Amino acid sequence: MKTKKITKAVFPVAGLGTRFLPATKSIPKEIMTLVDRPLIQYAIDEARAAGIKEFIFVTSRGKSALEDYFDHAPELESALRRSGKDELLEVLKGTNMDSGAIAYVRQNRPLGLGHAVWCARRLIGNEPFAVLLPDDVIAAERPCLQQMVEAHAETGGCMVAAMEVTPERISSYGVLDVEDERGSVVKVRGMVEKPKASEAPSNLAVIGRYILTPKVLTNLNRMKQGAGGEIQLTDAIAEETGSKAGVHGLRFRGQRYDCGSKIGFLQATVAFGLSRPEFGVEFETFLHELMSMQKAAQ
Ligand code: UTP
Repeated sequence: MKTKKITKAVFPVAGLGTRFLPATKSIPKEIMTLVDRPLIQYAIDEARAAGIKEFIFVTSRGKSALEDYFDHAPELESALRRSGKDELLEVLKGTNMDSGAIAYVRQNRPLGLGHAVWCARRLIGNEPFAVLLPDDVIAAERPCLQQMVEAHAETGGCMVAAMEVTPERISSYGVLDVEDERGSVVKVRGMVEKPKASEAPSNLAVIGRYILTPKVLTNLNRMKQGAGGEIQLTDAIAEETGSKAGVHGLRFRGQRYDCGSKIGFLQATVAFGLSRPEFGVEFETFLHELMSMQKAAQ
């Protein structure tokens, strides 16, 4: 199938981040760091690896730290150059975005993820685009969005990243009703936002990576508030299940961390800390000792 190359990605970052209060009173959630990189940097790197050239941020009040993060920092760069800290200089340069590659659009009220994506409609235009939620951090040999772009080249239409979740967790997700549960690419018949475990059509949940057709934006034009009083992206994608190219789910290969929740953020911090060669062994020893001390105290 001939599909148009995906070069634009939307990063909805206008949420209130209430689960991380009081930190998010003054720090955008996306700037919180896993080891030494803010959450947003992981999402940007993943998007770049998948061939994204234009980065569209849907922001809100209080997110100026996020905009500053992507600015060039000439004083810092020349200080590092003068002191011969070349490795750090390269790390810093890796965060720079080309002029014109990044655009910001404002969501004036947090009316939901669907509404946030809709706010970017004029910048997206009439082409397929990706959506990445930076609080879903995915550790994978091949970045998740890259896996999706490759699978999408075969299917066209809309594609969502899917993973299996336990019945206890299912009501926190958009859930897929699929034609065939086997295989890594599954054809989607329907989608339900946050169903009760007893009513969930499968155990396949949608996580924060999407490839969408511009038709989803048209669907969002007509959207009313759905589950939780928010304008749900899931509902607008679900409308496309009956279209010719339809909707597919990709069971991606990788480990996803829900860094929008405190426990997910802690788990990601430990996992990413352990995976870094510069302090892997020291950190591992520390964790073992801590666990032994805790056991002994019980
Ligand atoms: P969440 O459901 O995690 O909401 O949004 P939140 O406001 O960020 O966090 P909590 O639940 O209050 O702790 C998922 C993604 O959708 C974006 C968020 O920024 C996040 O990336 N979002 C959500 C918007 O951009 N606008 C919205 O109105 C809602």
